Amino acid sequence: MRVIVKKGKIAELKSEAVVVPHFEGVKELQGKAKLLDKKSGGLIKEIIAGGDFEGKYLQVSVTYTRGAIAAKRIVMVGFGKKADFTMEKLRAAYATAARQVRSLKLKELSTSFDFVSIEQPIDQITRAIVEGVSLGLYQFTPFKTIERDKIKEINEFIIVEEKYQSCITIRSSAKAAEIISNAVYFTRDMVSTPGNSMTPTGMAEEARKVAKRKNVVLKVFDEAWMKKNGMNALLGVAQGSDEPARFIVLEYNGGEKKDPVIVLVGKAITFDSGGISLKPAEKMDEMKSDMAGGAAVMGAIMAAADLSLKVNAVVLIPATENLPGGRAYKPGDVLKSLSGQTIEIISTDAEGRLTLADALTYAGRFKPAAIVDVATLTGACVIALGDNVIGMMGTDDTLKQKIRNAADTTGERVWELPLWEDYHELIKSDIADYKNAGGRAGGAITAAAFLSKFVGKYPWVHLDIAGPAWVAKDKQYIPKGASGVGVRLLVQFLKDWQKMGKN
Ligand code: BES
Ligand code: MN
Ligand code: ZN
Repeated sequence: MRVIVKKGKIAELKSEAVVVPHFEGVKELQGKAKLLDKKSGGLIKEIIAGGDFEGKYLQVSVTYTRGAIAAKRIVMVGFGKKADFTMEKLRAAYATAARQVRSLKLKELSTSFDFVSIEQPIDQITRAIVEGVSLGLYQFTPFKTIERDKIKEINEFIIVEEKYQSCITIRSSAKAAEIISNAVYFTRDMVSTPGNSMTPTGMAEEARKVAKRKNVVLKVFDEAWMKKNGMNALLGVAQGSDEPARFIVLEYNGGEKKDPVIVLVGKAITFDSGGISLKPAEKMDEMKSDMAGGAAVMGAIMAAADLSLKVNAVVLIPATENLPGGRAYKPGDVLKSLSGQTIEIISTDAEGRLTLADALTYAGRFKPAAIVDVATLTGACVIALGDNVIGMMGTDDTLKQKIRNAADTTGERVWELPLWEDYHELIKSDIADYKNAGGRAGGAITAAAFLSKFVGKYPWVHLDIAGPAWVAKDKQYIPKGASGVGVRLLVQFLKDWQKMGKN
C-alpha cells in the first residue's frame, strides 16, 4: 500500500471512501467534519441523527455521498468517548475502518485531520493513523494458490491537508510510519512462514536482505564455528535436528565509532517440538512461531537502518530447530556453555534459554551499554500476564524505564515481574552449576533468572513475548497469527536512545 499526502481540500478529493472519525456523544460537529457536513448538505449530521451511528468505539458506518462531495462514500468511524481516547484507540479505529473498506473490495481510502480535535502533535497523529491502517491490512498469502484474484487489497491511502507546512510534517512522519510498518510486515512474514521454509538457513537469508542497507554488516556462523568457540548450549539444542543451526550477527553502525553499542538478542527456534521432552500435539503447529524474538530484532534493526537512526546496534540470533532424534540432547545431560558454566538439562523443552545463554555471553564481546533480549520463552509468562502482555525482567532499572517509555508510545504493553534472590535458588543443580528448568512455580521468572547467569555485568532486560507474539483472534491492527510484537517497541527504544544521547 502506498501512502500519499496530498495538498488540497477534503471536500474536493476524488476518492472511493473518505474516513471520517467521530467522538461518541458529540452533537456539534467541528473542524473539517463541520465543513464536510455543510458541503454535503448535512449528510454527516443525518448519519448521526439517524441513530445507527453513535460514534461508539470501533463502530463503522458506510454511506454513499451520491455526488454531494467528491468522495464516493463516507466511512464514519467511532472513536468512543472523548475522555477515554488514547493513541492506541486511534490506531485501532483507523485499522477497523480500513479493513471495512477493504471488505467492500475497494482499492483505496482517504482521510484528513481536524475532523475531531485530538490533543497530540500532528506527527504523532500521522504515525498512529498510518501504522493503524497499514498494520491492520496485513495478510499473509504466499502459500495460497487458489483464486488469488479474490484476495482483496488496498493499494492507496491518501491523506489530504490544506496547509503547506503541515503537508511537509505529515509527509515525513508518514514515511517513518511506512518504514516501521514495513519492518513489522517483514517480521510477521518471517514468523508466519512455516518451519520447513523458515529454517535457520532461511533466517540467515532474510538477514541478508537487511544487510543490503547502508551501515549494516552481516556475519553468519555455522556449527563448526560454534563448536570452535564453545557454544555448546546452543549446539546441544541443535544436535537433534538435521537442519544446520546458524548464529546470525547483524551490526548496524548508525552512530559514531565512540558511541555505545546496544545489543539486541532474539530467540530463534524455527520449530520447537519440545525435543525428547516432546510437547503435546495440540497446537504444536504454532511452535513455528518460536523464532518470533529473532524475527523481531531483525525487523527492528532493518527499520533502524531505513530510518538512519544515529545509534550503534548489534543483533544476535542463535537460530536452530528443537527436535527429538537419535542424536538429540536428553534430560539429564550436562552442557558446558560458552561462559564456561555448566547446565544440567531437566527438560529439553526449556531450549530457548540454552540458545540465549550462549548468545548473551557472546554479547559481552561488544561491551554493550545495554542488552535487550526478546524471546517466546515461557508458557508460564502467558499464564501470569495473559496473551497480550510482554513480561519484563532485568537487572537495570534505567533500562527497564526506557523500555516502559517506548512501550507507552507504541501501545505494546510490558509488565515487570520480579527477579528476587529466591528465584535463583530454584535453578541450582545438584551436579552442575545450573539446571535449565526450575519447576512450574514462577516459570517465567526462573527462566529469566537462568538467563541472568550468562549476561555478565552489562545492563540487561529480558522481554518474554510468548503471549503476544502469536495472536489467536483478530485484533484491530494485529490480524490473527504473527503479530510482529517487539519491532515497534525496539525501534522506539532506539529512537529515544538516539534523542537522549548517551545515558
Ligand atoms: N517456546 C516455548 C514457550 C512457549 C509456550 C511460547 C507457548 C509460546 C507459547 C518454550 O521453549 C517452552 O517450551 N517452555 C517451557 C519451559 C518449561 C519446560 C520449563 C514451558 O513454558 O512450558
Ligand atoms: Mn520449548
Ligand atoms: Zn521454545
